[in-house]
Order: sequence, then C-alpha cells, then structure tokens
Amino acid sequence: MLSSPKALGLILASTLAVATAQTYTLSQYLSGDNFLSAFNFIASASDPRNFGFVHFVSQSVAESSNMVDNSTNGANDSTFGRNSFYIESIETMDIGSLLIFDANHIPFGCSVWPSLFTQGQNWPAQGEIDIVENVNLAKDNRYSLHTGDVCNQPLSSNSFGSAFADKGGGVYALLWNTDGIAMWYFARGSGEVSAWYPASSCDPTTSFGPQTITIYIDICGAFADAQGIVFNRTCSQYFPCSSLVADPSNYDEAYWEINYLHVYTSENISNAPATGSSSNVSATGSTSGSGSNSGSALGGAEFFFVLASLAFLGLLTLF
Ligand SMILES: *[C@@H]1O[C@H](CO)[C@@H](O)[C@H](O)[C@H]1NC(C)=O
Ligand SMILES: *[C@@H]1O[C@H](CO)[C@@H](O)[C@H](O)[C@H]1NC(C)=O
Ligand SMILES: *[C@@H]1O[C@H](CO)[C@@H](O)[C@H](O)[C@H]1NC(C)=O
Ligand SMILES: *[C@@H]1O[C@H](CO)[C@@H](O)[C@H](O)[C@H]1NC(C)=O
Ligand SMILES: *[C@@H]1O[C@H](CO)[C@@H](O)[C@H](O)[C@H]1NC(C)=O
Repeated sequence: MLSSPKALGLILASTLAVATAQTYTLSQYLSGDNFLSAFNFIASASDPRNFGFVHFVSQSVAESSNMVDNSTNGANDSTFGRNSFYIESIETMDIGSLLIFDANHIPFGCSVWPSLFTQGQNWPAQGEIDIVENVNLAKDNRYSLHTGDVCNQPLSSNSFGSAFADKGGGVYALLWNTDGIAMWYFARGSGEVSAWYPASSCDPTTSFGPQTITIYIDICGAFADAQGIVFNRTCSQYFPCSSLVADPSNYDEAYWEINYLHVYTSENISNAPATGSSSNVSATGSTSGSGSNSGSALGGAEFFFVLASLAFLGLLTLF
C-alpha cells in the first residue's frame, strides 16, 4: 500500500510526535512547482578550499538549459568546469524544527559531490548541519555537524548513491531542539535512528543560528578528490578525479529526484527525540513508498510530471 508523500510526511511527523509527545506544525511545504520558488540560485557561490570543477549558474541559465545538460564535452578545454547549481532556501529554519526530505535519487558517480545541508548566516559560528552528503560511489550517507568543533560522524548503511537509488530512495529527517540534533534515514519500509548529537556534546542552542537549507552538486573538490585518498576508496581506477570532468557521460547519475521537503516547527523546543542514540525508531507502514499520486498534487508520479513541465524534471542535474 503506497502512501502519498504528504501522508508520509505527516505519518513520519506523527511517529516522531509520539516518541516525543510533541506537536509539529508545517511551516515550509516544498514540492512540485513551488519547490524552486522557495530557493535562490547562488551563481556566485564559491569556496576555493572546497569547490572543484564547477560553475554555479543563475536560475535563468539553469532553466534555459532545462536544468539537465549532461551533454557538454569539455575535452579540449583545459579550464573546463561543468555547470552546476547551488541553491539556498529563502526562509530560514529555527531551533524547534523538524525537516523531512523525501527523494528517489541522490546524485552519485565518480567525482560527484552532492549535499543537502543547512547553514547559519555566520559560518561556522552559527553552525552547519549536513543531512545528506557523500562523494563518488559511496553507498553510505555521511551525517555531520560543523560548529567550529566537528562532532562525531556516524554512517548510515546503504543510504546514498546507487544503494539509495536501487531501493527507490527514502526519507531523511532532521530534528533540532534544545536537547540536541537527531537525524534519521528511513529506507522505503524501514528506519532507525541514524545520528544523535546530544546537547552535551554539540550545543544546539549556542552553536547554531537560523539555518538556510542548501542543496548543491560539486565535482571533485576537497571532499571528493582529496589528493586521491577519498577518491580512491571507490574510484581508484579513474584517478585522478580531474580526468573525469570533461566527459559528460560520467554525469548521467548526477541528479536529485526530490519528492518533497517539508519543515515542521514546534513551540516546545526542549524535547528530546526518542531516547537517544541507540534506539531504533520504527517507521513501520509509513515509509512504504511515494509512487502513488492518488489524486494528491504531491504524489510521486505527479510530482515528476509537474517538475518536468517546468523543465526541471524533478532532477537537479549537472549540465
Ligand atoms: C578535441 O580535439 C581533437 C583534436 O583536434 C578532436 O579530434 C576532438 O574532436 C576534439 N574534441 C572535442 C570534444 O571537441
Ligand atoms: C590513487 O590511485 C592511483 C592509481 O589508481 C595512484 O596512482 C595514487 O597514488 C593513489 N592515491 C592515493 C592517495 O592513494
Ligand atoms: C543524461 O542522463 C540521463 C539520465 O541518466 C540519460 O537518460 C541521458 O541519456 C543522458 N544524456 C546524455 C546526452 O548522455
Ligand atoms: C516540553 O517538553 C518537555 C519534555 O517532554 C515537557 O516536560 C514540557 O512540559 C513541555 N512543555 C510544554 C509547554 O509543552
Ligand atoms: C536497530 O535495528 C537494526 C535492524 O533491525 C539492528 O541491526 C540494530 O541492532 C538495532 N539497534 C538497536 C540499538 O536496537
């Protein structure tokens, strides 16, 4: 029995609500044709320490190219950088928030570095929460917090890359309140607590300001490339990373297929999720899929078509 993403989000929220005796109110509801309108395209985004062979483009450039152009061959251009995007939410998210992100596909491929994260205005003083991130052909998601101090970084099995796509995607959740920061990954049909950062180790009140939701795709760069140390874990036969950038066929899987991103808020910001790091949260029956459109504007299939009609195709893809 498939549930619509809307129902899924609410069920997940109510699952968490049961665990925390907490009520969450929907504050950002991003899906289909309102998804991109909630974000700014940051064409000027750059960071020489992190960014690899990419040019982030404006929304008009992105849309005029259908957001999807994995056909540009940069073979004879020694300065070639592949066009990509970096988008930031217009609204910020405050402590007391629950973020639910449902996707069918996360970008992957040797040299590909996607991320869904949140960041304060003043980095790193106001913190960064990495919800979905990893590189190359990794199959485990890497959660992390950046607050000046780097917190413990547990991995979550088969939650990224081809392993994520092969299972039809899944749902990520982030809960941020005064007791700490918790993140979950719910594969379609299951779920367990993936990451728990109690306030005692990473202060969620003082180390994090209002967070901007950010999504991008980088190519190579410090994390994916890292002089071959990280790159070679899954892509050593293609070393060096830079040798992949010009060939567009390396980027056929470098797309996001997003069903929705919802942010819920609670007036009671002092409430721990479940009972800490070692507990499994059951999502039984609530994560069985998002393929149904059941008359809902948020159904998985319908989502796909809505975005396609926007020349967005539900895919935020490298050019
Ligand atoms: C690159 O240059 C070579 C030699 O001039 C040419 O054969 C090849 O078609 C060029 N490739 C592209 C993608 O322009
Ligand atoms: C990565 O692998 C290549 C061979 O595929 C090797 O030449 C290079 O030294 C390796 N780099 C590291 C850091 O292990
Ligand atoms: C780009 O990627 C899509 C999705 O994987 C694929 O269907 C398409 O054939 C690719 N386009 C080119 C020009 O390779
Ligand atoms: C907020 O949650 C805490 C922990 O469950 C509870 O003790 C407190 O009574 C709640 N406050 C309100 C106003 O609901
Ligand atoms: C959580 O569930 C998984 C899968 O059923 C199991 O392997 C793991 O031991 C459980 N962890 C805890 C702390 O119960």
